Amino acid sequence: MSKKPLRIGLVGYGFMGRTHSNAYRQVDHFFDVPYQPELKAVCGRDRAKVAAFAERWGYESAETDWHKLVDRKDIDVIDIASPNDTHAEIAIAAAQAGKTVLCEKPLGRNLQESRAMVEAAERAGVANMVWYNYRRVPAVTLAKQLVEEGRCGRVFHYRAKFLQDWTISAKVPMDGQGLWRLNADVAGSGVTGDLLAHCIDTAIWLNGPISEVTAATETFVKERESTLTGEKREVKIDDASAFLARFANGSLATFEATRYALGHKALYTLELNGENASIAWDLHDLHRLQYFEYSDDGRLRGWRSIHITEGEHPYMKQWWVPGLQIGYEHTFIHQVADLLQGLAENKMRGPSFRDALATEGVVDAVLESARTGQWVKCKA
Ligand SMILES: NC(=O)c1ccc[n+]([C@@H]2O[C@H](COP(=O)([O-])OP(=O)(O)OC[C@H]3O[C@@H](n4cnc5c(N)ncnc54)[C@H](O)[C@@H]3O)[C@@H](O)[C@H]2O)c1
Repeated sequence: MSKKPLRIGLVGYGFMGRTHSNAYRQVDHFFDVPYQPELKAVCGRDRAKVAAFAERWGYESAETDWHKLVDRKDIDVIDIASPNDTHAEIAIAAAQAGKTVLCEKPLGRNLQESRAMVEAAERAGVANMVWYNYRRVPAVTLAKQLVEEGRCGRVFHYRAKFLQDWTISAKVPMDGQGLWRLNADVAGSGVTGDLLAHCIDTAIWLNGPISEVTAATETFVKERESTLTGEKREVKIDDASAFLARFANGSLATFEATRYALGHKALYTLELNGENASIAWDLHDLHRLQYFEYSDDGRLRGWRSIHITEGEHPYMKQWWVPGLQIGYEHTFIHQVADLLQGLAENKMRGPSFRDALATEGVVDAVLESARTGQWVKCKA
């Protein structure tokens, strides 16, 4: 039986444009999905580059103005994979045009933009989702199942880090492909909105709402050359960010992100310590979940390093055979599989725009606390 098409319009053909395109192309090879994604159009500002991307990935057409993409009647989904300063405007227009809206994280550059996005999507009643893809690493999804089964008992601690080292040199410029992250006007914030947003999303998903935070941030390199103007500009992003947090369930947490941890490329680690069990995970070893359970026979009690490749592990029966692992790109394929299932059942899987707003509330509180030196209550 032929599947219903789901016609995709993608904005942005950089890093995330590739991960999303790969997911749309792969999903039905591995998952029994109710829709067939159709790559209708990709949008970018450079005509030659966007045309080359369309050809490589099999998009039927290319646009150079996102307004045209949103206006097209032959497109069902607007997928925003462009820098943060474009998210709110495109998402709001797409919602008003009645499209399903998918948006890369963070939602907006700040709480105000993010709230407007949630309001537009909910007022229009359109399906929406945010690409917090780490929820769909099978090991992390398994961690969620273990927490929901109550195996950890009362949770005392949560801790997460996201460490990189690519901006240590003051010669790294700002603006342009990838480097827009160093310009606060485009990115909104530095590592808090870029890296910690991932940690906060997973933390809320696993351990519930975060009530209050106290934070410190630092900007180590104060000036960088702009690739657009060749001039030096003041750096206004947070290069590093660390905060203490209290969750609504009474647990205490620490979070840290930086792009100055020499030797670390994308070290996202998380750990949850409960009264009965502890769970730990590490992006550099993403196909393993570390698990410690106190009820184990005392002589054999210790950390289990579970290789997440069995058919009973989340998403894994769709892939290879036990023992063979999957990687980063699969998290996006899982997200598309869940999106298609959610659309067919009219029961969208998270994270929705509203779910992502909770993360923005924490990001906003972290930045405010770093400015004021006070504990700040999180509000979305
Ligand atoms: N989920 C994740 O793990 C993850 C990882 C990386 C980036 N991101 C997010 O994805 C988004 C894109 O990041 P990236 O790393 O792919 O950036 P990138 O710089 O690699 O690519 C951005 C793309 O957007 C295009 N673009 C810029 N302005 C545009 C406009 N006005 N109209 C159309 N296209 C425009 C650029 O030409 C480029 O193709 C950001 O919001 C970022 O925070 C998420």
